[in-house]
Amino acid sequence: MNTKVIDILNIDSAAKCLKDGGTVVFPTETVYGLGADAFNIDAIDKIYKAKGRPSDNPLIVHISDRGDVNKLALYVSEKAELLMDKFWPGPLTVILKKKPEVPSKVTGGLDTVAVRFPSNKTAVELIKKSGVLVAAPSANLSGSPSPTKCEDVISDLNGRVDYIIDDTGCEIGLESTVVDASTEDIVILRPGAITLEMIKEYIPDVRLDSGLIDENEVPKCPGLKYKHYSPKAKVVVVQGNSNNIKKYIADKLTDDNKIGVLTYKGTSYNDAFITIDAGDTMTDYAHNLFSALRSFDRFGAQIIYAEFSVEEGIGVAVRNRLYKAANHNIVEV
Ligand code: TXA
Ligand code: MG
Repeated sequence: MNTKVIDILNIDSAAKCLKDGGTVVFPTETVYGLGADAFNIDAIDKIYKAKGRPSDNPLIVHISDRGDVNKLALYVSEKAELLMDKFWPGPLTVILKKKPEVPSKVTGGLDTVAVRFPSNKTAVELIKKSGVLVAAPSANLSGSPSPTKCEDVISDLNGRVDYIIDDTGCEIGLESTVVDASTEDIVILRPGAITLEMIKEYIPDVRLDSGLIDENEVPKCPGLKYKHYSPKAKVVVVQGNSNNIKKYIADKLTDDNKIGVLTYKGTSYNDAFITIDAGDTMTDYAHNLFSALRSFDRFGAQIIYAEFSVEEGIGVAVRNRLYKAANHNIVEV
């Protein structure tokens, strides 16, 4: 397949491609998405094929108008309405009971559908111009970190999709918060930039899925049970007292391996093969995590030690992605 990488000046051709059943990668405020017409089964097949994604892992349907929810959801509870009022457009995906006409290919056979109204202007314009609702997973090969830069999309999907829109976006850097609002029991299935604390302000009894708290439970979000977000290099998370972290990692650097260090708040390691700084706050860490993991691979690091500090707010989402990237290889110091 000949993939066309375009800028927003050529968005009309990408919108037409979506309408005609093709695949288009577009930026959002979270990560790049790989979109196709949610009501066209052949187009949906192209998404699974391009990503190499298991077909029981459902997709998020992206809309550009709040009213489009009614094309997808059987009903919307008051709590679900409240979530949409407060956090849309933005990095929140809401799970609702689906209408029968929503293809089960999109929902992985579930009786619910995931809906998101993004805030990124290019994403909204593309969806609007296409005239269709856009099913879109993150635009990475299944298992790799989600792409937050166009070059990362190209390295995964060039030749596998029709269009890639190269534009700014992905300020957040981690995928949207996924909230199950299909019953009265509102549950966060995947943590993201819309945090537990933010939702609690409006829905005091919202809770995190127990699979996010206890690793031994199977997560309710089907995608979270797969190995995920992993670079080729082995990742080890080192957390605890900052002096101990520094000492632990510095001791490891005497090995012969090509060791990368993902630093937090600018620690320096003279003997590292490569260091990348995740920034000074958990918001920075979220923004930089996936692109940093990909950069370590590009440089050929064999092991990545990631400095980490357990924090609330968006820190919960960073922890969720980082622990998965590390396959739960965590050292407390
Ligand atoms: O920020 C995002 O959400 C990005 C951008 C492109 O919008 N999309 C994204 O999609 O991260 P994806 O497919 O990589 O992750 C969607 C997650 C998966 O873990 C999937 O299992 C879950 O949402 N999901 C989708 N539909 C669901 C449903 N009906 N019930 C429970 N989980 C669902
Ligand atoms: Mg994904």
